Parts: sequence; structure tokens; C-alpha cells
Amino acid sequence: MTAAVAFGQGNKTRFVEELKALLRIPSVSTAPEHVEDVRRAAEFVAAELERIGMENVRLIETTTVKRKGHPLVYADWLHAAPGADGKAKPTVLCYGHYDVQPAEPLDEWKTPPFDPTERDGNIYARGAVDDKGQMWMHVKALESLMAAGGGKLPVNVRVIIEGEEEVGGEGIAAFVREHGDHLKADVALVSDTEMFAPELPTLCVGLRGMIYTEIEARGSKVDLHSGMYGGAAPNPFVALAQVIAKLKDENGKILIPGFYDKVQKPTADELKAWKALPFDEEHYRETEVGSSVLTGEPGLSVQERTWARPTLDVHGMPGGFVGVGAKTVIPAKALAKVSMRLVPDMTPAESFAKYKAYVESIAPKGVQLEVRLIHAGDPIVVSTDNVYVKAATEAMREVFGKETVFVRGGGSIPIVGDFVRELKIPTVMMGFGLPDDNLHAPNEKFHLANFHRGIESIVRFLSGVAA
Ligand code: BES
Ligand code: MN
Ligand code: MN
Repeated sequence: MTAAVAFGQGNKTRFVEELKALLRIPSVSTAPEHVEDVRRAAEFVAAELERIGMENVRLIETTTVKRKGHPLVYADWLHAAPGADGKAKPTVLCYGHYDVQPAEPLDEWKTPPFDPTERDGNIYARGAVDDKGQMWMHVKALESLMAAGGGKLPVNVRVIIEGEEEVGGEGIAAFVREHGDHLKADVALVSDTEMFAPELPTLCVGLRGMIYTEIEARGSKVDLHSGMYGGAAPNPFVALAQVIAKLKDENGKILIPGFYDKVQKPTADELKAWKALPFDEEHYRETEVGSSVLTGEPGLSVQERTWARPTLDVHGMPGGFVGVGAKTVIPAKALAKVSMRLVPDMTPAESFAKYKAYVESIAPKGVQLEVRLIHAGDPIVVSTDNVYVKAATEAMREVFGKETVFVRGGGSIPIVGDFVRELKIPTVMMGFGLPDDNLHAPNEKFHLANFHRGIESIVRFLSGVAA
């Protein structure tokens, strides 16, 4: 293991240069014009897995009902020598995603999103931390162990890396459902979350689920002159605004009937642990959120509001005239992109049904609404009472010299729920992002010290699981 750690230390510059090459590929999974780039990123990752000595490396094509999906990258190495007791070594399933969110708005980036740039110990690029940089930590940890072990790993490893996490992960979900036996493992390792604070080793033990929806409003048959018809014709944007205003009140309460029915309260132990986390709400408001006040349900901490309560957000309202200047038009149709984050024990299907029924029931006169589900993912809380979580905290204690904190994340990684439910294995979510890494936003970055500490933590974790 020390030899593997030393290998990582000695190859830091190369590891970062390789990551930059991967970051130059604009693998934006939601954008049809980037399909070929997404595939190039998959091939880049597969080639490296092959080079470092992984076996059965291949791209697995995915298809969903709606479209041809982006490929999965698979690899394994399943020859770990049994221990002195004759027992077979466990198998670790390493998961990550090579796709990224769109980089827009481009003019807010200090350096171009797909031209990775080092500044002040950080690497700036779309995907730097979410998740190319963190996924690359897995690959580099495996390379380090392979190099130190003369082409052998201390544990059995399978690698599955998807290219549509940022669009809901339907392809990998179908693969896990249909071919779960190809991913047989004892534990999944996911590095796609954050540390609670700099220098503070963190395991994420819960994620919110989500439903991402669109509401399409149609008023008139065609676009209309707003002077000639304004006053007589329905306006679909006004209708959507009226609908949206009825989805959530000023106190952050979602107004969909029955929406909170299945919400589980965090346990007393969790609440106590969250209270003890180093958190300055004022600092968070000012430096991370940058708003004049924080919103949401009164009487609940920021952690409760973002980790253990559902929420509803509007992401954009395409349609009508959005160009420079003015155009006096009543658009025939308008769209709103609305998502809801879910917490245990809410289900996407039931939540969507309640939402759809409610939205249809409040449709303003003269406007037809179509409510569509774009993608969905289950909320999840993982168990912490297993040897793998222990191995993870020990690994990070050696690297950071500190005890690990357990947090939940407000974001979603849809496949984690399937690992737990379909593969029936525990999941360790060991992430090395920082709260100010600008995920999904301009100037996304990854703190390079955390990239290297992440590699070392994963080397130590895999070695620890073997021991
Ligand atoms: N890595 C994030 C999820 C995340 C971020 C979890 C921070 C915990 C802490 C992931 O790539 C992501 O952004 N997921 C999407 C999922 C969605 C598009 C289905 C999300 O949460 O919006
Ligand atoms: Mn991610
Ligand atoms: Mn993401």
C-alpha cells in the first residue's frame, strides 16, 4: 500500500495532465450536438482502464424508451489472491460518471469551460469535480495499486462509469435491473459528493431523489400581435406564472396536496450530529449562496432544509421572445422546467402523480397544460453499520488526520438507490469536492490537493477492504 501511495505522490503532474485531456472533451450528456463528444470521453476512459491493466474493458451501449443512450464504460479485475485464512477477497464496484452539465452561461467563466486551467491550487473546468476529476481519482488509485502490486490488485474490482448521470441515468438503471449479475460486488464506492468543509473528511450517507418535469402551456393556435389581441387572448406565460405561484408558499412549503405524506424525519442522532457540524449560516449565506436572506421552511436548519426536506425549483421558462430588444407578441405556447427534490420515503411515481393532478386542477382558463416527467430518481439513506464504512473512515483518518463526519447530500445520484435495492450492496459515498466548487455553475473547480488526497484515500480504502 505504501508503494501505491508513493506511486501516486510521484505521478501527480501526469495524473493532472491526463485529467486535463479528459476535461477538454465537452461530454455534455443533455446536448444532442455533443453525442460524439460524450462517446469520445467514454473511449478515453476505457482506453486508460485498458492501459493500466484492467480486464474485460468495454463500452456497453444503452437504450431507453425515449432515445439511444450514452455508453457505459465497464472494466473488471477479479483475481485477488485469497487471504491467509483462505477466504476470497471482497469485490468493490467503483462507480462514477464521465458526462457533465452544460457550461452556459459562457461569459461568466474566467477561463473557458473546456480549456482546463490551474489557478491557486485549483483546476477550473466543467466537470473538474463533477465528476470527471473524482472519477479519475478511482482510475488513478487503481493504476497506483496495479503498479505497486506488479499488475495485481489487493481486492477484486469492477468499474462502471456512466455517461448520463446528469440526465437521470436511465441507461445504467436499466442495465442494473436487467444485468445486475454482471455487477456482482460486495460494496459500491461512489466519489461524486462533497466534503462538508475544507480539511474535513466526509462520508455522504444520504441523497435526495428527484423528479424533473416540464409544464407546457398552450393558449392560442398561433403567436398573436399583443396589441391586436391583448385583452382577449390567453397568455401562456402568465398562466404558467399563476400555476408556479401556487406550487410553493412564501415559507417554502410545497402546496401540492399530500406531497409530504411519506416524508420521514431524520433520527434524533442525525439531528444531533448535524447540529455539531462546523457551520456558520451567515458565512454560508454570504459566500456560497450570495443572497440577501436564506429562504425555506422556518424553524428548520439549513442542513434539515437541504438534506431532509423536499423542495421545488423552477429552472427555466423557454418560449416567447428572449432576444435583445422588444417584440410585442403573445406566444402560442410556453414551457416551464420544474423539478422537485424528494426525501425518504417519498417515491418519484407517487410524487409525480400528485403534482400532475394538482397542476391540472389549477390550470387557468383558456390554457391547456401538459405535464411531463423528464427523469426521476429515488431518495436514499445508506447504512453506516458495516466494515466498508469503517474501512473508509480509517483510510481518510490516515490521509487527513481527522475523524470523518457523516452528512447527507441535497443532490441526487439516481443509481445509488438501485445499487442498494437491486444489487443489495452497501454504498460508500466518499467525495472530495468542496462546498465552493461551483458544481453545475460557471467556474467549476476541483481543489488539486483534494484530487491527490482522494487518490490516496481510495488506495488506502481498497487496501483496507482487502485486509
Ligand atoms: N454529483 C451530483 C450530485 C451531488 C452533488 C450529490 C453534491 C451530493 C452532493 C450529481 O452529478 C448531480 O448533479 N446529479 C443531478 C441528478 C439529476 C440530474 C438526476 C442533480 O442532483 O441535479
Ligand atoms: Mn456528479
Ligand atoms: Mn452533477
